[in-house]
Amino acid sequence: MDHFLYQDGRLCAEDVPVAEIVAAVGTPFYCYSTATLTRHFRLFDEALAGMDHLVCYAMKAASNQAILKTLAALGAGMDVVSGGEYARARAAGVPGERIVFSGVGKTRAEMRMALEGGVRQFNVESEPEMAALNAVALDMGVQVPITIRVNPDVDARTHAKIATGKSENKFGIPIARAREVYAEAARLPGLEVVGIDVHIGSQLTELTPFRLAYEKVADLTVQLREDGHDIRRLDLGGGLGIPYTRSNEAPPLPTEYGALIRETLGHLGCEIEIEPGRLIAGNAGILVSEVIYVKSGEGRDFLILDAAMNDLIRPAMYDAHHDIVPVAEAAPGVEQRPYDVVGPVCESGDTFARGRMLPPLVAGDLVAFRSAGAYGAVMSSEYNTRPLIPEVLVHGREFAVIRARPTFDEMINRDTIPEWL
Ligand code: LLP
Repeated sequence: MDHFLYQDGRLCAEDVPVAEIVAAVGTPFYCYSTATLTRHFRLFDEALAGMDHLVCYAMKAASNQAILKTLAALGAGMDVVSGGEYARARAAGVPGERIVFSGVGKTRAEMRMALEGGVRQFNVESEPEMAALNAVALDMGVQVPITIRVNPDVDARTHAKIATGKSENKFGIPIARAREVYAEAARLPGLEVVGIDVHIGSQLTELTPFRLAYEKVADLTVQLREDGHDIRRLDLGGGLGIPYTRSNEAPPLPTEYGALIRETLGHLGCEIEIEPGRLIAGNAGILVSEVIYVKSGEGRDFLILDAAMNDLIRPAMYDAHHDIVPVAEAAPGVEQRPYDVVGPVCESGDTFARGRMLPPLVAGDLVAFRSAGAYGAVMSSEYNTRPLIPEVLVHGREFAVIRARPTFDEMINRDTIPEWL
C-alpha cells in the first residue's frame, strides 16, 4: 500500500495534488511520501518485535538526507556500502553504533573513516579484506566487530543482475569454507567475530530462497559456536520484493518474512539485523514527467517524455516494469491505447515501455511512474548533460524540495580547464 492515490480525479501524493508540485518545481522530478516510508519501516520493525533486532535501511535504494532523517527518527539503522554513504548516514544524524558497513570492495580509507567515526560492525566479504581490516584496526589500536558474509549458494529466483547468493556471484565467501575462514578471523587480533552475514539478492518474490539460506545460516551458527566462536548477531541482508504492477501476484509481506526469521533462526537467541532497501523506499516514490510530443511512427505511437533513461535506468538496465499512470485520472469508460513510452536520450535503449496501454495523451499531459522510489534517483546520471532531477518529499499537506535541480552553469562549472587551454 502507498499514499499516491487519486482524489477527485487528481493524482495526489498524500494530500498534495501532484499537479501542484509540478507548478512549483517543473518536471521531471521524484516525489516521496513520508507516510509510506514510515509505514514500510514500521512493518519490518513490528515483524521482528519480541526479538532483539535492528532494521538497517539499505540506503543505496534512496539516500537523500531527508529520507535518511525520516527513517533515522523512527529508530532505523543504516546499511552503507561506501565512504560516501557512511558520510551521508552520519550527516543525517545516524550514530555509528547503528551503521553496518557492507560491500565487496571496501578500501582501507573507507575502513579508517568508519572506525574513526564509529561503526556497529563490518560485514567482511573476503579473506584479503579481512587481512586489510585487521591491519587498519591494529594501526589504529582498536578491535573491530565483524560478521563474515557467507554465500549460501541459493538461487534467489530473481533477475540475474541482482542475484547475489549463488556461488558464481562475487559476493561473500563460500559457505562450505566458512569454518576455515572464521578460524582465521579468530586469529587476527584486530577483529572481533560477532556474527554471520548473508544477502542473497534483491526483488525476491518468494520466501523459499530466504528459507533455504536462513536454514544454512542456522546450521552454520551451531557449528561455529561448537568451534568456539561467540556468534551472537545475524545480519540477514535485504531483498524482499515489492509489487511493481497492480495485477501481479503479491510478494510475501514483511510479517510473513518476520515469521520465517523467527521460525528458522529464533531459537538461536541471536540479535537479528535486516537490511531492506527496496521495500521501504520503492513504493514510497514516484517519478513525475510531462509528455513533450506524441509522435506517430510506423504501426505505433511514441509518447516522448521529458524524463529519460538517465533519470530512471531500471527499464533499460533490467527490463524492469514500472506502472505509468496519468496525473489527471482518465474519465471512466475512456478507451486505452498502446504507446511506446520513451525519453529524449539518443539511444534506442531509452525506452520505458513498449505497447503500454494508456488513456489517450497529448503534449503537456503529466504522467507518473509508480514504484520509482528505490534505485531511481540514486542511479541517475547527467548523460546528455541532462541535470539530475529534483527530489521532493511530501508530508501530509506539505511538500518540500529536498534536492534542487541544478542550473546548467552549476553543471558546467564543475569542470575545470587545464592551464594550457
Ligand atoms: N544488503 C545488501 C548487502 C545489498 O547488496 C542490497 C542490495 C540490500 C541489502 C538491499 O536489498 P533490497 O532490500 O533493496 O532488495 N539496482 C537494482 C537493485 C540492486 C540491489 C543491490 N543490493 C534494481 O534497481 O533493481
